[in-house]
Amino acid sequence: MTQSTTSLVQELQTLRDFIRWALTQFNRHNLYYGHGTDNAWDEALHLVLGSLHLPWDTDERLLDARLTQLEREKLLHLIQQRCEQHTPLPYLLGESWFAGLAFKVDPRVLIPRSPIAELIEQGFSPWVDALEPPKRILDLCTGSGCIGIACAYAFPVAEVVLADISQDALDVAEENIARHHLLSRVKTHCGDLFRGLDGETFDLIVSNPPYVDARDLATMPEEYRQEPELALAAGEDGLSLVRVILAQARHHLTPQGLLVVEVGNSDEALEALLPQVPFLWVEFESQARGVFVLTADQLAAHQADFEAVLATSDR
Ligand SMILES: C[S@@+](CC[C@H](N)C(=O)[O-])C[C@H]1O[C@@H](n2cnc3c(N)ncnc32)[C@H](O)[C@@H]1O
Repeated sequence: MTQSTTSLVQELQTLRDFIRWALTQFNRHNLYYGHGTDNAWDEALHLVLGSLHLPWDTDERLLDARLTQLEREKLLHLIQQRCEQHTPLPYLLGESWFAGLAFKVDPRVLIPRSPIAELIEQGFSPWVDALEPPKRILDLCTGSGCIGIACAYAFPVAEVVLADISQDALDVAEENIARHHLLSRVKTHCGDLFRGLDGETFDLIVSNPPYVDARDLATMPEEYRQEPELALAAGEDGLSLVRVILAQARHHLTPQGLLVVEVGNSDEALEALLPQVPFLWVEFESQARGVFVLTADQLAAHQADFEAVLATSDR
């Protein structure tokens, strides 16, 4: 940004001025949109309205309302950070939306965007029988807690465990549990995948683990580099954690239990690794891909395959 901040604070006055100016700046900088919006216009609207606590569908008549000096300074600072440091917008706003719910986010956690939201909103139909909802749910690799907390809304009497290896992430998840008044039913667990959960079983295990392969990790846009590497990196083929999940999940599922795992574009590598396994790939309205479902029975039937694949990995 070349013009001095002082002169900009004087010249830009209204919401409309700031949305227009943000749009120009976003188009000038080589920004990547992958955290809640997919274009400069929506990003500008979200930044300006979101940071002023105004609703997304704010009446157009308000757009010519003038802002206070403090608001103008704050907006300029945020637009500058978005453009110059490529900070993802949800980190700037401290909030992200998932399955219609607001979650606190900051650089200790991945910004929620899993297509599993769609499954949760549909009660995991047709795999979960609405008449027999899960009583215990594990959100493995929980980050902000978004998946497990959204599950707690979908299944209002279920007990939910949010597990992660990062205590930093769990600190954020705990704030989100409190924010959603779920302290009595939702707990956190710190550990490496299933470690420390011996003897515990669940009717539903949902996981969005790290699954970015080495090539994608090396070429990620700057915006994704600001998320914790621990939340993304998963070895050469993106499957280092998924191998362990597959080999151990059965020991933590009830007999009618279900495993739901996101592997994103590492789905092809997984199919190639375990061609004999009947992964059921979920079809999403959003056209997202890379989420599979396996029943406890299917996991049991292929336990030897999972263990063989794990034995040859370096984990
Ligand atoms: C892709 S993020 C998903 C976060 C959240 N579930 C979501 O969908 O937004 C993966 C999470 O896995 C956690 N993680 C990485 N390695 C782990 C491990 N070995 N055991 C448990 N959690 C792990 C990271 O700390 C991170 O929070």
